[in-house]
Amino acid sequence: MTTYATIEQLCDHVGQEVTLRGWTYKTRFSGKIGFVVLRDGTGLCQCVVEKLDELAEVFAAAKELTQESSVEITGLKLVQKAVDYPITPKAHGVDFLMKHRHLWFRSQRQHVILRIRATLVDAIRQHLNKSGFILIDTPIFNGTAGEGHSTLFGVDYFDEKAYLAQTGQLHVESACMAHGKVYCFGPTFRAEKSKTRRHLTEFWMVEPEIAYANLDEVIDVAEDFVCGIVERVLNDHREDLEFLGRDVASLECIKKPFYRITYSHAVDILHGPKAKQLLEDDLTTKKQAITDLSTKLDELEESAKTARKKWQQEKAAQDIQAARTERSELEEQVGNIPHHMELAANFEWGSDLGGSDETIISRLHDKPVFVTHYPKEVKAFYMRVDRENDKLVENFDMLAPEGFGEVIGGSAREEDYDILLSRIHDHKLPIEPYEWYLDLRRYGSVPHGGFGLGVERTLAWICGLPHIRETIPYPRMMGKIEI
Ligand code: 4AD
Ligand code: MG
Repeated sequence: MTTYATIEQLCDHVGQEVTLRGWTYKTRFSGKIGFVVLRDGTGLCQCVVEKLDELAEVFAAAKELTQESSVEITGLKLVQKAVDYPITPKAHGVDFLMKHRHLWFRSQRQHVILRIRATLVDAIRQHLNKSGFILIDTPIFNGTAGEGHSTLFGVDYFDEKAYLAQTGQLHVESACMAHGKVYCFGPTFRAEKSKTRRHLTEFWMVEPEIAYANLDEVIDVAEDFVCGIVERVLNDHREDLEFLGRDVASLECIKKPFYRITYSHAVDILHGPKAKQLLEDDLTTKKQAITDLSTKLDELEESAKTARKKWQQEKAAQDIQAARTERSELEEQVGNIPHHMELAANFEWGSDLGGSDETIISRLHDKPVFVTHYPKEVKAFYMRVDRENDKLVENFDMLAPEGFGEVIGGSAREEDYDILLSRIHDHKLPIEPYEWYLDLRRYGSVPHGGFGLGVERTLAWICGLPHIRETIPYPRMMGKIEI
């Protein structure tokens, strides 16, 4: 009888005969010996086949294996021969890879990222479950907007207008009045019309909500939460993170206390000398890097011309592609820096922090930063008005360090019926759809608050990925819906 094992389980079968089932990652033959690198989802394993008389058939079969052919290995049983697998070891651009997302999954880097995602999701659930939070699933079809009308996806709901959830917050607010500490965790939808490295139209968000909590207490919960999930991922995936090229030391210092600054202080930072210096230094280093890359590219192109062996040509093509991509990204960044300098220097108190402003503040800190007390005009209607300065709300954004920017948005919620009603009016929202939400302020209203953490942005930060598109199995962005 055949004993099947996965590559991960092989160490439990030393000295025994087992069969592996998987896909051919690559093969290499040299004289009387052949190597088949097999991938089975749990790992990679190099299998060896010798050209012995009694193994002549197996050796011949191994020579036939193509990239991604499915195969069972004790002797060697071909399950299906893959012909012309599109993602070859030669270099491919990201557009090509995104069009082949269903196959791109199989590459080592994507494999690692999605495994880390699975751990992150598990860490989120476990942390909250162990801390006494009750999971409350919130609806995806909604009659009301949670986060402003500009990013709503409308759907036809039996001839009525409905919207895809931008947040589960309003519903978890009502649930926390029943259970005390609750959270929802699911997909959320925003019609983001811009293509940026931080925005998806469909993303996963976890939203804890706590009754009888003030702003500082909510921030404390967010701080513990982020420390807990980063620690778990580091614990389970240190090698994977290193494989991705992540500087693990900068994750190790994600320990309490994080920085807490007000929005007004953040504005001072943007106007200050450190922000200016940071961008000026950037300009110098990046221009130098472009020059260095151009020299390197000349050399690479020269050596590609003289490469004889196929693997040398493939390697050269890969290196050239990587250097070109890096150079064009740097050129784009250098083009943007003067604009970002201007935005920071001329930032006016009262506007919302933009992506480049967040990047500056987060780069000037080695740990996450909570930015609190934004002007109420730029924030959502449900945020609690600061009783000491009614121009502000009691909210916070948590900016991840190293330039990753906002990964959490949260606030104390307005618990006073009259103030909330006037805020709904100020935002020119219709009252009727929010009557149920106003009930929470009519019947036993208490101070409460919570926050939302975006899974994909958090994963991009933890893995050190410059773009959000690789952090979700099937990314949805403007202009991207297929597969
Ligand atoms: O700051 P946001 O909009 O906050 C809310 O939705 C609140 N209702 C949360 C709450 O208080 N319960 O979004 C929260 C987080 C952001 O910090 C970001 O991580 C993520 O959700 N996010 C996005 N991620 C990817 N693509 C987008 N378009 C995102 N918009 C928000
Ligand atoms: Mg936000």
